[in-house]
Amino acid sequence: MSKIILVTGGAGFIGSNFILYFLKNHKEYSIINFDSLTYAGNLSNLSSIEDNSNYAFVKGDITNSKDVKNVFEEYNPDFVVHFAAESHVDRSILDSEVFIKTNILGTNNLLTYSREHNIQKFVHISTDEVYGSLGNEGFFTEENNISPNSPYAASKASSDLLVRAAYKTYGQNVNITRCSNNYGPYQFPEKLIPLMINNAVNDKKLPVYGDGKNVRDWIYVEDHCRAIDAVLHKGKPGEVYNIGSSNEWTNIDLIKLILKKLGKSENLITYVKDRPGHDRRYAIDSSKIREELGWKPQVEFQDGINNTVEWYLNFKKWTENIVNGEYLEYYRKQYSER
Ligand code: NAD
Ligand code: TYD
Repeated sequence: MSKIILVTGGAGFIGSNFILYFLKNHKEYSIINFDSLTYAGNLSNLSSIEDNSNYAFVKGDITNSKDVKNVFEEYNPDFVVHFAAESHVDRSILDSEVFIKTNILGTNNLLTYSREHNIQKFVHISTDEVYGSLGNEGFFTEENNISPNSPYAASKASSDLLVRAAYKTYGQNVNITRCSNNYGPYQFPEKLIPLMINNAVNDKKLPVYGDGKNVRDWIYVEDHCRAIDAVLHKGKPGEVYNIGSSNEWTNIDLIKLILKKLGKSENLITYVKDRPGHDRRYAIDSSKIREELGWKPQVEFQDGINNTVEWYLNFKKWTENIVNGEYLEYYRKQYSER
């Protein structure tokens, strides 16, 4: 019998890449994708596997105990890989409430039902943003203190602490992964790379926050998926694993690179007011997962960014549907309701 993984947030950017990657590489598993389809969830990402007998979609909200109870009872999963979250820093600055509900209360619900159903392992997908901000030197290791600066990062840090508590208090088998900034296909065009590609393609201004010298450490999404695979299969109970590609870019250099690849003018760049509490630099030390689990990134940045730019050019409709269509309507509705 195949083993069953409950994937939460599988209709989002990383979750859908993970499901596509995992089903291709592991025939012995079935995946239940549990997602409430917020503005960021898009089932068309998974249209190629709709008919795969090892895949099922269940619409449900992790903050709703009844929805969570039902999916555990109906499918009796062996593992949980938990991606579902509100994920965008700028939105969390505008309104943090849904971040608290989804990222903290939702995670708590999942931990509770995972415990009741004796889940073999709970993999919690977190972020390097829980560590706060670095100066010019140094890297985040798993030993760093948690020191989040945005409401998004604070909500993720809180969820990490609940996962830790589940391990310490109830002996649940958990892992926490903390990855740096991801890029690749299916990323919602509010995040830096797809936003800049989309604006440049449409000759719209590229808004650079502050002086553009903030640094992010970029990893291709499929390398992140491979790392989660390694953690799911080989991670030691209760451990945290940092995931990163040692690939630091200032925002402005990255934006100029994208413009060059698209053959567009740097005159599109426009400096705008800085993000409040804007973290200066993220950089990951991922030696623990490399040494203990034998993972390493496989995608060179130049290849990854070429693939990504090409993907957004080839799948313009995907972005257009989001920016102009029903998804934006949904997004507007969500905002007006809050
Ligand atoms: P995303 O915003 O693209 O997708 C989030 C998904 O979760 C969507 O499909 C959405 O519908 C679903 N969702 C939201 N609220 C839900 C709820 N209450 N119930 C059920 N489903 C819900 O996010 P992403 O960029 O794919 O990030 C996935 C995870 O990885 C998040 O936990 C995020 O914190 C983490 N992460 C992201 C990055 C990054 O660079 N994007 C880096 C490190 C970690
Ligand atoms: P983002 O993709 O929102 O990821 P995060 O804030 O979680 O790292 O932003 C990446 C970097 O790009 C961050 O330093 C903020 C900056 N940024 C801009 O300069 N302009 C923009 O329009 C956006 C969305 C981000």
